[in-house]
Amino acid sequence: MAAFGSLRSAEEGLGLGTAAMQAEDVFASYPSAIAALCAQTADGPVGFVVTSFAAGVSFDPPMAIFSAQKSSRTWQALRGAPSIGVSVLGHDQQHACHQLASRSRDRFAKLDYSVTDAGAVLLAESPLRMECEVMSETPAGDHQMVLLKVLGAQVDPESSPLVYRSKGFHHLISAG
Ligand SMILES: Cc1cc2nc3c(=O)[nH]c(=O)nc-3n(C[C@H](O)[C@H](O)[C@H](O)COP(=O)(O)O)c2cc1C
Repeated sequence: MAAFGSLRSAEEGLGLGTAAMQAEDVFASYPSAIAALCAQTADGPVGFVVTSFAAGVSFDPPMAIFSAQKSSRTWQALRGAPSIGVSVLGHDQQHACHQLASRSRDRFAKLDYSVTDAGAVLLAESPLRMECEVMSETPAGDHQMVLLKVLGAQVDPESSPLVYRSKGFHHLISAG
């Protein structure tokens, strides 16, 4: 088993191997959904994709969480929005992932989306769409941990999500 190169050495007696891996590579092997967090601002729609999103932090009230890089300009623009749309990408929305992570392209060009009354931007044809508001932010290393209150949701049980693991896209297959 590989050790976290910079975080923990094999000498600490945990029985880990010596091949060093960066935390980023280790965490990339954890399978995740890809969530597009987007909102309308005075400058138009703003958004990015994250794999750190996790739903079900609390059921009552419903809460979710994600982490934003401290260096993210997108989060600076989004964090003040009264309402943020969370669209979990579907199995055929890889293009939206590339576009909504890009530093150079128009992130919303040719994307089909709608805007709620409160300004949340939601992608069409996503298997799970939620409207959220920011409850709190907590510093977490080089990221900000953001707690979201889920105000409303729409689920399409027929549509399957895209799965991201080790820098590749995957589809869900039922195991039984
Ligand atoms: C698969 C994938 C997952 C990502 N996950 C996160 C994340 O969890 N948190 C984050 O802040 N940025 C994440 N990003 C980066 C953003 O999507 C985007 O590229 C970045 O915010 C661009 O920099 P800017 O915000 O300064 O414009 C991810 C990008 C990709 C492609």
